[in-house]
Amino acid sequence: MADSREAEFDARDLRRAFGNFATGVTIVTTLDKDGVPCGFTANSFTSVSIDPPLLLVSIARAAYGCDIFTAARGFAVNILAQDQRSLSNRFARAGTDKFAEQQWYGAVTGSPIIDKVVAWFDCEHFQQVDAGDHIILIGRVLRYSYNTHAPLGFCRGAYVSFGLTPGMLQLVSSPGHLRVGAIIESEGKILLERNPDSGQLLPPSSDTVGNAGIPGSLLGKLASAGIEVDLPFIYAAYHEHSERFIYYLGELLSLDDAIETRTLHFYEFDHITWEEINDAAIIAMLERFIREKRLGNYSIYIGNRQSGEIHPA
Ligand SMILES: Cc1cc2nc3c(=O)[nH]c(=O)nc-3n(C[C@H](O)[C@H](O)[C@H](O)COP(=O)(O)O)c2cc1C
Repeated sequence: MADSREAEFDARDLRRAFGNFATGVTIVTTLDKDGVPCGFTANSFTSVSIDPPLLLVSIARAAYGCDIFTAARGFAVNILAQDQRSLSNRFARAGTDKFAEQQWYGAVTGSPIIDKVVAWFDCEHFQQVDAGDHIILIGRVLRYSYNTHAPLGFCRGAYVSFGLTPGMLQLVSSPGHLRVGAIIESEGKILLERNPDSGQLLPPSSDTVGNAGIPGSLLGKLASAGIEVDLPFIYAAYHEHSERFIYYLGELLSLDDAIETRTLHFYEFDHITWEEINDAAIIAMLERFIREKRLGNYSIYIGNRQSGEIHPA
């Protein structure tokens, strides 16, 4: 771990450390002196003041657009929607013709407002601050707009989704039988439930999430075994024909000593009897969980029983 008292840091490592701060993604735009649009991807956007209405974004001195931005009348900040990753990538490449085939229009300053963003702010320059290898552009907001679409997120060098992905949303809202389960881990052990009829071992699941007071629901079943959990993340969502499966990553809140019930039991990762699970999708999910638990970095699986996509959580 780097020491903050050291005078010089490894640039790449410092960038990685800053990257732990989760942000949205913006495209900052302006017009050059000939009216040609110019823009770059930025996550240094910050709201600054309500009265007067100010925001800031910092631009690298080395950026192709730096001189254009500092000389322009103003600039616009476009906050990207979660399906605008490729736009973000295009505007993160230096100097190319980024606006080709891109729909945009001007508002007050003429700086490009990009189609289908979740919010935009058209600004005149308020102040520019020299800040090391960047220049901080502080803008006074002249006009803005926003909508309810899910924004794109960025953390640790990767795009992240804040909302349900379209695939997940479709899965959750489509008709058919739903099975909800939870992956619950404690000290290197995972909670599995034995089906009293078939003998099969599976993560605990039910037809509904419910709550601790509803017998037979997922949370009710766990509560009656002395296990209190929170279900903050979806870990896998998949379907097979009309059956849908959603597995949450459970966060253990409290655990009664009297946990050992007839069906629920914590198994050491290394002592899971995989042949008793006998379900390829569940085995793949549990193996992924054990791998990701060791790395401390989780993802989400969306698809069907055989194939799907892994998204960063
Ligand atoms: C998610 C993300 C965030 C970025 N944030 C910034 C930023 O805040 N400031 C900046 O100067 N460059 C930032 N960049 C890099 C620029 O987008 C990149 O250097 C781009 O090439 C600059 O365009 P230009 O050289 O054509 O002006 C970011 C890139 C990505 C992918």
